[in-house]
Amino acid sequence: MAWKTLDDMDFAGKRALVRVDINVPVEDGVVTDTTRIERIIPSVDDIQEKGGKVILMAHFGRPKGQVVPEMSLEHIAGAVADVLGLPVTFVNSDYGDAVAEMEGDEVLLLENLRFNPGEEKNDEGFAKRLASLGDIYVNDAFSAAHRAHASTEALARLLPACAGRLMAEELGALEKALGTPERPVVAVVGGAKVSTKLDLLGNLVSKVDHLVIGGGMANTFLAAQGIDVGKSLCEHDLADTARDILAKADAAGCEIILPRDIVVAREFKAGAANETLAPDACPADAMILDAGPATVAYICEVLEKAKTLVWNGPLGAFEIAPFDAATNAAAAKAAELSKAGKLISVAGGGDTVAALNQAGAADDFTYISTAGGAFLEWMEGKELPGVAALG
Ligand code: 3PG
Repeated sequence: MAWKTLDDMDFAGKRALVRVDINVPVEDGVVTDTTRIERIIPSVDDIQEKGGKVILMAHFGRPKGQVVPEMSLEHIAGAVADVLGLPVTFVNSDYGDAVAEMEGDEVLLLENLRFNPGEEKNDEGFAKRLASLGDIYVNDAFSAAHRAHASTEALARLLPACAGRLMAEELGALEKALGTPERPVVAVVGGAKVSTKLDLLGNLVSKVDHLVIGGGMANTFLAAQGIDVGKSLCEHDLADTARDILAKADAAGCEIILPRDIVVAREFKAGAANETLAPDACPADAMILDAGPATVAYICEVLEKAKTLVWNGPLGAFEIAPFDAATNAAAAKAAELSKAGKLISVAGGGDTVAALNQAGAADDFTYISTAGGAFLEWMEGKELPGVAALG
């Protein structure tokens, strides 16, 4: 699909309404990870260099159309100013005259859009109110593009619209990974539950050459093959679904890679006593918390021959050592191959970036998406409304 970029627009003397995703983690009032803010810098700088004024629109949390004071973007405005290195003025939901009074390189940050019930309803009236504040619409929030909301969808139809730098970069990286990838393509999909990733697995088996299934999800697949997984996290009711996915993979020529050895423990806690066993040897009173070294060795062998990797989700209980070992080792291999220019690696979604950061591997991946849910929906092969609206 073709969409316009910042290069196609004339920003001179214009006000750009820029939808960004600064839904960042905050603890005790402090932004603990500014990555999402850093990633909007190229668009903000570019628009200002082209003579435009920047009005940032964003959501924070899920206030569901209510004013929830602790979710006000006022709390984030200081961090945005620090990261952008620009004066940032917070504007409450009345909007008032702030736009008319903008000066110099001042950037406006509008109040949490989700305080207005019209945002999540994709309400035309709310979109029109937003449209009245600017001349050009820029969507730089790939990570919110799976939502058909007033600021991601309706607004794109009311003003001349284009993709921001981050949006264009995300879409380019994802297209390279699953659209027209260099083969062989490997996907690593981990995490707790198969139920949250059914569509994703179903789509991937027809697109990739090797699909590594890790984390709690792998237990469901082992159990579906008649293996006793003891007290492991497992969705026994999804056995038929898991068998369907295996059959679909087989028909499509996609190799499914399940644990070849397992690390089991009797307690879910850091440093718990553990042992490495064959996949069918999990004791009845134990749970599988990681894949073992033989599995990791095989994943590394497959990665060595691969050209493209898409990664979503950890291979084990990465939050508690030593059950982060498989995730760390496989991520280190992917990072090493990417750094050497042998592999295009793209990662995103939920816990993934945290897991790769913890493994010290994120910096060497080819591309790390800022998106959680949007990355998953894209991996499911779905059209993202926020992207479609730009076309
Ligand atoms: C995210 O954090 O993934 C995005 O900001 C989207 O948030 P949402 O899932 O609340 O729409």
